[in-house]
Amino acid sequence: MCGIVGYVGKQNAVTIILEGLKRLEYRGYDSAGVCVQKGRKLDLLKKAGRVENLAKAAAQHRFTATTGIGHTRWATHGGVTDANAHPHVSSDGKFALIHNGVIENYAQIKAFLAGRGYTFKSETDTEVLCNLIAYHYAKEPVRAKSRQTRFVESVRKTLRHVEGTYGIAVLCVDFPGQIVGSRKASPLILGVGEHEYILASDASALVSRTQNVVYLKDGEIVHLTPESFSISTLDQADVSPVVDKIHWSVTAADMGKYAHFMEKEIFEQPAALENAMRGRFAADGSTAQFGGLNITPGEFRDLERFMFCACGTAWHACLVTEHLIERFARIPVEVDYASEFRYRNSPLDPRTLFFVMSQSGETIDTLAALREAKRKGYRVMAVNNVVGSSIAREADGGIYQHVGPEVGVASTKAFTSQLLIGAMIALYVARMRDMSFSDGVTYVNALKGVPELVRQALQQAPKIKAIARRYAQYHDMLFLGRLSLFPLALEGALKLKEISYIHAEGYPAAEMKHGPIALVSEKCPSVFFAPQGEIFNKIVSSMQEIKARKGPIIAITTEGAELPKGVADDVIHIPACHEAVLPIVAAIPVQLLSYYIAVERGCDVDKPRNLAKSVTVE
Ligand code: F6R
Repeated sequence: MCGIVGYVGKQNAVTIILEGLKRLEYRGYDSAGVCVQKGRKLDLLKKAGRVENLAKAAAQHRFTATTGIGHTRWATHGGVTDANAHPHVSSDGKFALIHNGVIENYAQIKAFLAGRGYTFKSETDTEVLCNLIAYHYAKEPVRAKSRQTRFVESVRKTLRHVEGTYGIAVLCVDFPGQIVGSRKASPLILGVGEHEYILASDASALVSRTQNVVYLKDGEIVHLTPESFSISTLDQADVSPVVDKIHWSVTAADMGKYAHFMEKEIFEQPAALENAMRGRFAADGSTAQFGGLNITPGEFRDLERFMFCACGTAWHACLVTEHLIERFARIPVEVDYASEFRYRNSPLDPRTLFFVMSQSGETIDTLAALREAKRKGYRVMAVNNVVGSSIAREADGGIYQHVGPEVGVASTKAFTSQLLIGAMIALYVARMRDMSFSDGVTYVNALKGVPELVRQALQQAPKIKAIARRYAQYHDMLFLGRLSLFPLALEGALKLKEISYIHAEGYPAAEMKHGPIALVSEKCPSVFFAPQGEIFNKIVSSMQEIKARKGPIIAITTEGAELPKGVADDVIHIPACHEAVLPIVAAIPVQLLSYYIAVERGCDVDKPRNLAKSVTVE
């Protein structure tokens, strides 16, 4: 949420910052701004709207400086205006700052500073933070010894007084060519390039220039100069930096031949799923194996309960995982919204293994749930896509999704890989308990066949596109499924509403009669998951109840299943498959349906209104 880029080097800072901001735009796109420093002069440009607006204005401005900071915003405090865009400059003109996060005690700090003559042009918490740095800087004694550290010390003092979350980058007129950055519960990565440093909230902003990165930890302050960088803590302890390597290149974050990132990410799912399962099957072909769980098979066998926490789409993946673990491993599983768990004080059984799922690894609620569980003494595992994310680093063990950067705001390939990993966890645990060797082999073979099944499901794209055209103008839609496909109904509804702004709800199909059926009419279509299986006939009955009330129906069914004539207006077939992989295959048609409906409605698919990828504020 919000994108940060800072540059110190020998190139034109604005060119590099704008390229970074374009790659970070999926994190927030309300407004954008840059501030560069040339000698003792700060040069600021901010625009409400997309980074493109800023780029056009910057082209007129002809910036030439080699140090600067830039930001793309997702508004928290204050509306979407040029004034509220970042960077913010302190009222004495000495500091410029960009900020990701929320300063919770900003009102008290603002009152304190206002009483001392500081003035504010915006309604943001960020401007308050910037002025507090100026305040501490002005108070800092200018002794010969402290002159060099005055900038970094005033940032350090400020951050000690701040409550909330932040990822920041700061310029100071008295320190040309330098940036000070810091983070708390908001990501910040330092790219170490050839004669240059790039500070960014996300690796995609810097990977075109360097793959060498330092993942900053909470409470660390980084000080960049043209020649070097140093890291210290809020308590003034020096930190020895660890330089990691990013194992993907900039092409992975490019759109290629596709019209949108979401489309690209839907169609790359066969390869993404292949990557997510690579090396994760035991040699005997009957179970899964995971390198990073840091928990012995014996400890796993002794578990009596699992708890999963996540948000949004990842929460839906947890619900499917719950179904599979309970079905195949016969261990109780609880799933909670991370945002609820963190405040709910839920009683946990001592033999519970706690999992969080998060594509970004930066979702603040999920991170807070992880911390709360750890505080209570639980071992916490993470299923996470972004290597080196806060969640990956704070978890006791975990499983990387390995699907490459997901840029589209609507999660697709990350979701199906979470489902895949959930199915593998269920297998791993089941094989430690009652699942037989031969059932394990059947399960493993089903998982290995997933990329091909997804490929086949994707072949329905032209048909789904044609269906989407007929359903694009409805205002309401229902998604209905049962058992492991009930979470898919929730996911289908979420996908549709977030990118096409059609009101949609997901329900277990049989729950319709308990209220939602009141919504059904010829104006409210239903998307039914109706795979062949034990309760196929029950699902068909629910479809008939909708048809009897003139509700249009799109049925997603498995090949070979025989739906009674006339019960569905449109039928999408997916390949028949093992129960453990059915949710993955069933995800494809709803992803495509939402995508094509949104395109048909002329929506900005990759940047839906009010949303941002990676929600790093509460
Ligand atoms: C919806 C979507 C969100 C995320 C949620 C959690 O398409 O992407 O609902 O799933 O914000 O994000 P992560 O997985 O990064 O924690």
